[in-house]
Amino acid sequence: MAIQRTLSIIKPDAVAKNVIGDIIRRFEENGLSVIAARMLHLSAEEAGRFYAVHKERPFYKDLCAYMSSGPILAMVLEGQNAVALNRQLMGATNPKEAEAGTIRADHAESIEANSVHGSDSVENAATEVAFFFGDIELHSRR
Ligand code: CMP
Repeated sequence: MAIQRTLSIIKPDAVAKNVIGDIIRRFEENGLSVIAARMLHLSAEEAGRFYAVHKERPFYKDLCAYMSSGPILAMVLEGQNAVALNRQLMGATNPKEAEAGTIRADHAESIEANSVHGSDSVENAATEVAFFFGDIELHSRR
């Protein structure tokens, strides 16, 4: 398995619930390292650019409004098989379908307020990391 990087976002619902530490603990206990982190409050336009791949989906406008409703924590996670491992730790997009013990099963409120985002492929991870971070902001532990 390769060492990979992936983008993780702790979304407004989880920031508001004060569970940032619990979520990062799960990443670290499962072998992922936080190699970059920044808290920011996106505008709806910025959220729209990040989620441009969903532009045609019926939930796009609500998603942009939601993601700009409060502060988020954007992070880069690094580790063995980081993309798939992060998605496993997050659980299914819809918390009603998320496996017990996953972040979304434990913290998410709805399919929209689902606590975390994680890149879905190595290719998309590179694009999503570059959306938030420049090279000199990434502090690899390798
Ligand atoms: P995320 O992994 O951040 O990627 C896109 C987001 O759109 C997703 O999590 C959900 O929070 C949100 N979303 C809202 N409604 C839906 C839906 N019906 N299907 C998939 N994603 C949705």
